[in-house]
Formats: sequence, structure tokens, C-alpha cells
Amino acid sequence: MRRWLDDIMNRRARGLAGRLQPWLPEGSRVADIGSGTGHNAANWRELLHVSVDEFDVADLHWVGDGPTLFDGRNLSVANATYDVVTLLFVLQYSPHVRELLAEAHRISRGRVLLIQSTCQGRWGRMWLRLREFCWGPLAFHVAGFVGAIRGQPCPLNARRQFSLDELRTLFQQSGFRICHWQPRPWPGLRVSRDLFVLEPIRH
Ligand SMILES: C[S@@+](CC[C@H](N)C(=O)[O-])C[C@H]1O[C@@H](n2cnc3c(N)ncnc32)[C@H](O)[C@@H]1O
Repeated sequence: MRRWLDDIMNRRARGLAGRLQPWLPEGSRVADIGSGTGHNAANWRELLHVSVDEFDVADLHWVGDGPTLFDGRNLSVANATYDVVTLLFVLQYSPHVRELLAEAHRISRGRVLLIQSTCQGRWGRMWLRLREFCWGPLAFHVAGFVGAIRGQPCPLNARRQFSLDELRTLFQQSGFRICHWQPRPWPGLRVSRDLFVLEPIRH
């Protein structure tokens, strides 16, 4: 079962790596915030030849060395340390979204890459809640059951679902402009897994 789950996670991570590849040049130094199981970081190192430091509020790793833990707001990292900062499917869990984005802004000397599910209307919100339950608490408990992660309180309780307009506003308020947006809709569900390439607004 664990091998099977590992295959699923690696396939997912390879798909995400393909999406991010144009924005993660070989040799880049990357901070992955909300790094989860570590499959993304492991695949980026192997396939994209970048160095990746992982940060998270909980230790959910089952590949690699695991993340540096932080409080969800402040990272013990100097300004502009990283070429690229990534946040993949993280914002919905954070009670401090603006502070988290500000921290990503601070530690990056380049872009912030964000993949986030967005929804439209009540129907989309309902599907997204269901999806987040499956990839959140359900996946967490299955991973615990097969011994892939150690027992701990579940950090995957989504606080909200975002519409595209809400994210656009949030990014602007956090000092970013969107320099590239790539939607990836789930057909018929009014849910999309959108890639945002963010750059700091320079005044
Ligand atoms: C759905 S997982 C995504 C993991 C990984 N980014 C991926 O796409 O495979 C969400 C991650 O966000 C982390 N997380 C939860 N609350 C957070 C917070 N307040 N700040 C930063 N990360 C948080 C979780 O611990 C988890 O690793």
C-alpha cells in the first residue's frame, strides 16, 4: 500500500515539476514552503537539478530529510536568500495568509511560484471542499495508517476556498503582480488548479 501511495505521489510530483519547469531554471536555489511529504522537492532535485530547502508547520515528510519547521509566519532566513520560492496548495490552510505571502516576498530575490485551487460559485466551492477533504484529512489519516508519517495532529484543515478574484486581490495587497497565470480547470466542476507566477511590485 505504501509503495502504491508513493507511486501516486511521485506521479503527481512529476506532473507539477513539468508545470513549474519553465520557472525553475537549473541551478536555482529554491525554498518550498508547505513542503508536505517531500515528493515535490525530491523530484525537482532529481529532474530539474535545483537545490531545494523545505519549510513547513508540521513534519509530514516521507521522502528526504524533512522540513525546517516554522510558525507559519516567520522564517529564520535572511532577506533575498532564494532565487525562487514555491507555495503549492498551501494558502487555504494558513490563518495568516498575508504574513505568509509577505515572508515569501522577503526571502525571495526573484519570483514566487504558487499553485492554488480556485473555485467559482457555490457548486465549485462544494467540489473544492470535497477535494480538499480527500487530499487533506483523508490522505493524512491514510498516510498515518500505512506508517508513512508519524502520529501528530492533522495540519490539513482547509480554512477557506479561494476564487480567482480573491487571490488576485490578495496578491496585489501582498505586494505582488501576476506575471503569468496558467489555469488548469477540472472539466465541469468549476474548480481549477491555477499556477501563478508572482513578481514583487517595484515602486
Ligand atoms: C495539501 S499539503 C501540500 C503539500 C505540498 N506543497 C504539495 O503540493 O504536495 C499542504 C501543506 O501546507 C502545510 N501547511 C498547513 N498550514 C500551514 C501554514 N499555516 N503555513 C504554511 N504551511 C502550512 C501543511 O503542513 C502541508 O504540508
